[in-house]
Amino acid sequence: MVGGRLEGILGAPWLFVHRRWYLPAVSRVRVAVLVSGHGSNLQALLDACAASDCEAEIALVLSNRGDAGALERARTARVPALVIDRDGQDAAGLLALLTRHGIQLVVLAGYLKKVPDAVVAAFRDRMLNIHPALLPAFGGPGMYGRRVHEAVLASGARLSGATVHLVDEQYDHGRIVAQWPVPVHPGDTAETLAARVLAVEHQLLPAAVRACCRQVLAGSSPSGLYVAGERFVPSVQPSQPLDHALIPE
Ligand code: GAR
Repeated sequence: MVGGRLEGILGAPWLFVHRRWYLPAVSRVRVAVLVSGHGSNLQALLDACAASDCEAEIALVLSNRGDAGALERARTARVPALVIDRDGQDAAGLLALLTRHGIQLVVLAGYLKKVPDAVVAAFRDRMLNIHPALLPAFGGPGMYGRRVHEAVLASGARLSGATVHLVDEQYDHGRIVAQWPVPVHPGDTAETLAARVLAVEHQLLPAAVRACCRQVLAGSSPSGLYVAGERFVPSVQPSQPLDHALIPE
């Protein structure tokens, strides 16, 4: 045998190269990212996973739209990128792809279709979504992208933000894993607010995915509340003034 791979002791991937067995320094969780659009959050994940100590490996990108810019980002990063059915309702096909690629964690990053219940059940506590508001406010069916920011502005709320949560059978409903507040400024438009929230998403999502991957590697479920660049602390609310919350890690 010249080269090969064995899921060996403790589930770690041992490599057999030049008649020797090696245990790579970092075990990585195989992550699939589901997308529908530009893929700037996917890019943030790809960039974070380029680091040698990252616990996540982006192993598959699936889009329900063939024209999604995210597909090009995936291909540039040499990640398999496939187009699924436009409604995303082919549960058997989706599960077959995730299984074939050995996926351990699924991340919805700007994915705008409901994930079929059978897929949610197969990845219970192993599927994350990022939403551009502070859930449970401004979530639910039809609340995505620009519509979310328009609703925040129409409500007069002075605070918005980003949320990473576990996916269950209802839109934007599963347990919150990570949140980062962002102020709403007087004179904000949906575009200016979206840009402020998106900048935070690009930091929050990789941090939350990496933290969840550490928990997957340790054999436990993602848990806790990740607030404003701090580490995972269960049931802790921001203890600092919210301006502090805008300072990245
Ligand atoms: C992001 O703001 C994400 O939070 C939002 O779509 C955008 C995708 O941007 N997702 C939702 O609204 C889901 N309810 P991206 O394609 O550049 O990552």
